[in-house]
Amino acid sequence: MKILVVGNGGREHAIAWALLQSPQVTQVLCVPGNGGTATMDRCQNLSFRSDDFGGIARFAEVNGVALIVIGPEFPLSIGIVDYLNNRNIPVFGPTRAGAQIESSKTWAKALMEDANIPTPKSATFTDLTTARAYIEQQGAPIVVKADGLAGGKGVIVAETLAEALTAVELLFAQNYGRLLIEEYVTGQEVSVIALTDGKTVRALLPAQDHKRIGDGDTGANTGGMGAYAPAPLATPALMLRVQNEVLDPTLAALKRKGIDYRGVLYAGLMISPSGEPKVLEFNCRFGDPETQAILPLLATPLVDLLLACTEQRLAALPPIEWKPAVATCVTIAAQGYPGNYERGKVISGIDMATNEGTLVFHAGTQLKQNRVVTDGGRVLSVTCIAPDFASSIDRVYQGVKAINFEGMYYRQDIAQRALS
Ligand SMILES: Nc1ncnc2c1ncn2[C@@H]1O[C@H](COP(=O)(O)OP(=O)(O)O)[C@@H](O)[C@H]1O
Ligand SMILES: [Mg+2]
Repeated sequence: MKILVVGNGGREHAIAWALLQSPQVTQVLCVPGNGGTATMDRCQNLSFRSDDFGGIARFAEVNGVALIVIGPEFPLSIGIVDYLNNRNIPVFGPTRAGAQIESSKTWAKALMEDANIPTPKSATFTDLTTARAYIEQQGAPIVVKADGLAGGKGVIVAETLAEALTAVELLFAQNYGRLLIEEYVTGQEVSVIALTDGKTVRALLPAQDHKRIGDGDTGANTGGMGAYAPAPLATPALMLRVQNEVLDPTLAALKRKGIDYRGVLYAGLMISPSGEPKVLEFNCRFGDPETQAILPLLATPLVDLLLACTEQRLAALPPIEWKPAVATCVTIAAQGYPGNYERGKVISGIDMATNEGTLVFHAGTQLKQNRVVTDGGRVLSVTCIAPDFASSIDRVYQGVKAINFEGMYYRQDIAQRALS
């Protein structure tokens, strides 16, 4: 069976790797992929753009691709699944209507409020004057969120009134027509990534990621500097509440709207100090880098799960099985990220880092004249699975230290929270 994966990040490399763990998957094609998917056995890159729906569909039809998996939110938000559904090509991911759960934070908030899903209270604004008045009336801290895909740059957690007022001005000036202004809540964050076929929704292992660039969660926000799973914070009791209070009612609310949602339903949760889960946001795709920590722990073949979702038979599948282990994933970035950085640095040591239990997933890399060179801000990540977090952390950093390129940067404290 041939499977095509759309995307070029670490997430897509991990998805391709996990799919290839099943002998029935003979080949994975990545559009456009990266240096890691270019060099992996039975994997090949194709140079279509992710918005070239026609090109991707034709390739899939001519080459007998059994399933297309959409990695990133952007092609989902512009309707790649609708297009492929119309051509009867099996695809994993929600339609454009379903993807609004991520692409519009105000749409998602309205859905949550309708379905009584626990989420911080908020209000929606389309003009500066009323937004400013609301902020002044509510006071700080307060959270300002752009409505629309923002690549992780659309949310400002404002500590002061002045910061919040500047944030709304800035976001309206950036042509976001609509903003969500949200109550600030405290607690610990956890990502619950679930799979759904539109009728049943099943959570994968909970994960935590590290968004800030610096150790101790300091400095600028990034796409994610590391992750670990399963997050000890998300106890079985908490996961049961998330299933009953978040995942099931969200799927039911989508269904009431006439949306047949199949794919990933990812809940970004804040767990209050008293243990109450609240939804900060939904995503309509796998998390990056959480996926690089979660999928190596999966014992059930990923291909079986994804096909069950697209063919609407998830309920008939036995419970998802996991290896009795934990995973730590450390992202290695280019010097300067998340600001300006250079590309084209030769990477060495990837083979040395890779061994039984330690995997290297590429993100911003490219194969150039048979050498793997840097080609993005988040360059690659190392994941180590081990029986416990102490050894997983120890060994993941041994892997990280085996890798070398000019200006490489990584956080030293990934998964430390899992130890305490
Ligand atoms: N209501 C809130 N209270 C406190 N912090 C928040 C709140 N909403 C979001 N945040 C913080 O901002 C981050 C980004 O917000 P999120 O809604 O996940 O948007 P995105 O991932 O699209 O940038 C969250 O991971 C969390 O740390
Ligand atoms: Mg988020």
